[in-house]
Amino acid sequence: HRARIDFDRRFTVAEVPERLFGSFVEHLGRCVYTGIYEPGHPTADAGGLRRDVLDLVAELGPTMIRYPGGNFVSGYRWEDGTGPKADRPRRLDLAWGVTETNQFGLGEVIRFCRTVGVEPNMAVNLGTRGVQEALDLLEYANHPSGTHWSDLRRSHGDEEPYGIKLWCLGNEMDGPWQIGQRTATEYGRVADQTARAMRMIDPGLDLVACGSSSRAMPTFGEWEAEVLAQSYESVDYISAHAYYQPQDGDVASFMASAQDMELFIDGVIATADAVGAKLKSDKKIDISFDEWNVWYQSAPTGERPEPWAEAPRQLEDVYSAMDAVVFGSLMITLLRRSDRVTAACLAQLVNVIAPIMTEPGGPAWRQTTFFPFAEASKFGRGTVLAVNAEGPTFATAKFGEVAALHSVAVANEDGSVTVFAVNRDLEHPLTLTVDASSLGGFGEVTCSTLTDADPDAKNTLADPERVAPAVNGSVVVEGGTVSVELPAMSWNTIRFL
Ligand code: AHR
Repeated sequence: HRARIDFDRRFTVAEVPERLFGSFVEHLGRCVYTGIYEPGHPTADAGGLRRDVLDLVAELGPTMIRYPGGNFVSGYRWEDGTGPKADRPRRLDLAWGVTETNQFGLGEVIRFCRTVGVEPNMAVNLGTRGVQEALDLLEYANHPSGTHWSDLRRSHGDEEPYGIKLWCLGNEMDGPWQIGQRTATEYGRVADQTARAMRMIDPGLDLVACGSSSRAMPTFGEWEAEVLAQSYESVDYISAHAYYQPQDGDVASFMASAQDMELFIDGVIATADAVGAKLKSDKKIDISFDEWNVWYQSAPTGERPEPWAEAPRQLEDVYSAMDAVVFGSLMITLLRRSDRVTAACLAQLVNVIAPIMTEPGGPAWRQTTFFPFAEASKFGRGTVLAVNAEGPTFATAKFGEVAALHSVAVANEDGSVTVFAVNRDLEHPLTLTVDASSLGGFGEVTCSTLTDADPDAKNTLADPERVAPAVNGSVVVEGGTVSVELPAMSWNTIRFL
């Protein structure tokens, strides 16, 4: 099987948004407790952050962290996670059926973000709470001093305001599982009212209205249209969430999951632009794809936690080589659509459907999905180029014939060009020819490839380095053309230096 692509530096799609490489820390399972935060761990710093995890997060390269949920936020009182730790209340977390100790909260997550050097993306509770509590949180976080909430923050030891610019107005408010679920009209109004009031404190905020929890929601489309009809001029983004897994053993469709993500993005943009057109607005609403990943939702991992346990193991999916390739294809989609998807968060960061795993008191290691994200964040900066592609297809039950090759090219700031390419075909290798003659010459060409003869190969506590990218030695350069063998089911990073 053979495929070819070409691109030209002059034909650009968009600058890669800084916020495209976000991740997500929810109070869920062991994402926070024994994930990023574990006082007493041999590597913990003075504030209880695990240094081994901080090192892996730095290598992963997220640019933004969404916090504190997720479903958790819809029952959360943000004040509980502030002030002296001994005084913080223990609460029932109804979203996940556990006990929240509140030993980690707003000040701690800001310290985490500052240590890693990433932007915080804060969600407000529009499930059990509303406009006033969102304003209190914003005042506590961002107002310099001289008011009740800002002086309370200072009394808690944080003299400098947190300067949080990006805010999510609730989470998945369309979902029947969400505490305080609302209709689109109810939510659209409260999102608009909250946004407008928050802008009275700071007009420069970037605000995300909740879109659909997935493209499969029965209200998808109508939800976006109604929420934006209510809030178009007061918000900047509409969110999208998507999780993929093989259904009924249909791995071919699973390999093509990015088709669904593409259709989702198309649908949300069309709907948002239709609302804008009706309103005769020249403003455009972008997508914040603030939860995306592979997630084996129908096969929950581990045992059911004891009711009201503290930080039990929940959603600890262990990812395979195949999962990493699908994940890479989702990352390629986000890059390809970064003209309108200008923020995104890999859900989540540690232990909970995450690229990084830890053991309490023990080591931390990289899941298979760690690598496509890390390479995309490291080499996917600069300008996305339009790619022309030709090649074979494979049959899927859900999406019909789908191109085996899924790729994107990024002109990097240092003059190099990076092509990310996935071979989604599970059986056939692809000989990829890249016509890079438009680059007018280039130096060395390298290719790193993640694949495995066993699609189910995983990195585990016992064997943490089983799956990793390796140098692909098949690169052949002939003038302005490069060819490289892409194994069946592979994620590839090709660099023109
Ligand atoms: O990321 C796990 C959960 O998935 C989040 O809490 C929720 O927003 C989504 O349904």
